[in-house]
Amino acid sequence: MSGYRDAFRTSIDDPERFWGFEHGAASAIDWHRPPTRALDSSNPPFYRWYPDGELNTCHNALDRHVEAGHGERTALIYDSPVTGTRRSYSYAGLRDEVARFAGVLAGLGVTKGDRVVIYMPMVPEAAIAMLACARIGAVHSVVFGGFAAPELAVRIDDAAPKVIVSASCGIEVKRTVEYKPLLDRAIELANHKPERCVILQRPQAPAAMGERDVDWASALDKATPADCVPVAATDPLYILYTSGTTGKPKGVVRDNGGHAVALRWSMANIYDVGPGEVMFTASDVGWVVGHSYIVYAPLLTGATTVLYEGKPVGTPDAGQFWRVIAEHGVKAMFTAPTAFRAIKKEDPKGALLGSYDLSGFEYLFLAGERLDPETLRWAQDLLRVPVIDHWWQTETGWPIAANLMGLEPLPVKPGSPTVPVPGWDVAVLEPSGSPAAPDTDGAIVIKLPMPPGSLPTLWNDDQRFVASYLSAFDGYYLTGDGGHLDADGYVFVMGRTDDVINVAGHRLSTGTMEEVLASHPSVAECAVIGVADQLKGQVPRGFVVLKAGVSADESELSAELIGMVRDQVGAVASFKEVAVVPALPKTRSGKILRKTMRGIADGPNGGRDEPVPSTIDDASVLDALRPILRGR
Ligand code: COA
Ligand code: AMP
Repeated sequence: MSGYRDAFRTSIDDPERFWGFEHGAASAIDWHRPPTRALDSSNPPFYRWYPDGELNTCHNALDRHVEAGHGERTALIYDSPVTGTRRSYSYAGLRDEVARFAGVLAGLGVTKGDRVVIYMPMVPEAAIAMLACARIGAVHSVVFGGFAAPELAVRIDDAAPKVIVSASCGIEVKRTVEYKPLLDRAIELANHKPERCVILQRPQAPAAMGERDVDWASALDKATPADCVPVAATDPLYILYTSGTTGKPKGVVRDNGGHAVALRWSMANIYDVGPGEVMFTASDVGWVVGHSYIVYAPLLTGATTVLYEGKPVGTPDAGQFWRVIAEHGVKAMFTAPTAFRAIKKEDPKGALLGSYDLSGFEYLFLAGERLDPETLRWAQDLLRVPVIDHWWQTETGWPIAANLMGLEPLPVKPGSPTVPVPGWDVAVLEPSGSPAAPDTDGAIVIKLPMPPGSLPTLWNDDQRFVASYLSAFDGYYLTGDGGHLDADGYVFVMGRTDDVINVAGHRLSTGTMEEVLASHPSVAECAVIGVADQLKGQVPRGFVVLKAGVSADESELSAELIGMVRDQVGAVASFKEVAVVPALPKTRSGKILRKTMRGIADGPNGGRDEPVPSTIDDASVLDALRPILRGR
C-alpha cells in the first residue's frame, strides 16, 4: 500500500486488514502463536489487540535479530559526555547481558506478571533491566530519576513491585544526584515493601548497601541466563505513571502485542528508520519517549539506538548533539523543542555545528510540547533537513499526528504536527459533542477503538480509565489537549485543557504541587499555574493565601515552599516562584479561576484581553492580582 490517504482510510475502515497478521502490520513481528484476529471489540469501551496471540517482546527486540544472523550488528551505543564514556553493545552482546540480568531477576523470585520498579539514570543498565523484565514476562515500571522520594513512594505503592532496580547515583551537569538515599526514603514512606533492591554501583558515588540490597555486578556474575517466556499479546509489558489532574499519577498500562506491532510500524512509516540504521532519541528512559524510541522501537526494528547521558548544553558545550550525530552516523534524531531552545540560547548562530560532518543525517523529529515556529525555523535553517513536529502522549505510546516520512512526506505547516497517523481517528468536538468547524478550537478526541499500542486501561483502575478518558464524549478518548483541524485535515494542538503542564518537555501536574503547598501550616489555600517560559516552554508559578492571623516573611516562606516542592515532587518540577496574595479569584461556586489567571499571565496585550468569566464571585480580587500575574 502506498500513500498516506489510502493507508489512513484502510486503517480506520478495515483495521483487521491493516493491523492483522495475514496481510497487515502484525506480520512484521515474530509470534510464538500468531493471532487469528487483530481486534477484540466484544467489551466496549475496553478494546484488546491480538486477543489470542502470544509473543515475547524481548525476543523480538534482541534474539530474533541474532538468530537471523545479525548478532554482530550494533544494537545500542551508550554515549555519556558527563562521565566521558562511550560503549557499544552488539545485538548478541546485549542479548547475553539481558538474558543474564533476567536470570538475576528470576533468581530473586520474579516471575511472569510480577512488577519490577526501575529507578535509574541514563545508563545502558536501565534498558537492560527493562528488556530483562520483558524477557521473563515481568511488568516493569520505570520512574524518572528527577522525581523525589514521595513521588517514587506513590508509584511503589500502586505498582507493588517484588524487586526494585536502581543505581547509586545519577549525574547532572552541575551535581551528582545520589539515588540510593532517595530510594531508601521512598521505601520507608511506602506501605508496600519490595523484597529486594538490585543496585548498580557507579564510581562517581557508590552507595552504602543494606540488608535488602543486592549488588548488580556480583549478582550478574553468578546468574544463569534466562530464556524468553511467551506471554499473551494482551499481557502488560509495562506500567508508566503519568501526571493527571489530581495528585495521584495514572498508571498507564502497555500491552505486549499491540505495542510491538505499532512501534515496528512507526519506525518504517513515520521515522523512516530501518534495520542497521541509527536513531538518536535524546530524552530519558523515565518518559514514554524514552521507552518507545530509545529502547523498544529501534531494537524491534533491528536498528541501532543511541542512549545519551547528558544535557544538550554544558559538559562540555552546546555542540554535543552534533557530535553524537556525526560520530555515530545518526540518520534520525528525536528530542523535545526545549532542547533546541537551550542550544539556540548558547550558540545562536550554530557555530559549533561547523566542525561536524552531518552528511548522513536525514531527519529531526520533535515532540513533547508545542513546537514554536521560531525554533522550527532555526532548526530548519541550521540543519537543512526536514524538521518534523509530531504529537503524542504517554497514553498513546506512539504518535497520534505526524508527517510520515517513510510513508508519504507532506508539506510542513508551521504550528502543526501535520496529519492524523493511520489508526488514529482524530476529531475536534465542541462542548456539546458536535464536530467543530475547520479552524475552530475544541477538545481534541480520538474515536474508539484506538490503534494497537494505545493504553488498554490504567493499572488496577478500569473505573478511573473510563472516568478520565472515556466519559466526556461517548465513543471517544479525550486527549486533554485543545486545538483544531484545518480544511486540509492538518491537526493544530494548542495546549492542555486541564491542569497538566509541560516543563522542559516533562509532563507534570499542578495538582501535585498544590497538594504540597497546601500542606504548609501557614497556607490557607493556593493555586499553581503553568506560565510561558522562553526556554522550558512552561514553568509553574505558585500563589498562596495565608491563614487568618498568620504573618510571615514572604521571602522566607517562599524559600521554604520552593524547598518543599523540590523535596516532595522533585527538582524536575522547576518550581522556583511563589507569591503570597491576599485572595484567589474564584467562581461563585468556589472554583479557583486558574485558566483566567493563566490568560492574564501569558496573554497578549498584558492579559487585558483575557475574558473574565461571568461566574466570577468578586472581580476586585482578580483586579488586585493582575499586576502580580503580569509582573515577571
Ligand atoms: N535525575 C535527577 N535530577 C534531574 C534529572 C534526573 N534524571 N533530570 C533533571 N533533574 C534535575 C536537574 O538537575 C535540574 O535541577 P536543578 O534545579 O538543581 O538545576 C532540575 O531537575 C530541572 O531539570 P531540567 O528540566 O532538565 O532543566 P535543566 O535546566 O537542567 O535543562 C533542558 C533544561 C531543556 C536542557 C533539558 O530539560 C532538556 O534537555 N530537555 C529536553 C529533552 C527531554 O528530556 N525531554 C523529555 C521528553 S521528550
Ligand atoms: P507526555 O504524556 O509526557 O508525552 O505529554 C503529552 C502532552 O505533551 C500532550 O498531551 C501535549 O499536551 C504535549 N505535546 C506532546 N507533543 C506535542 C506536540 N507536538 N505539540 C503540542 N503539544 C505536544
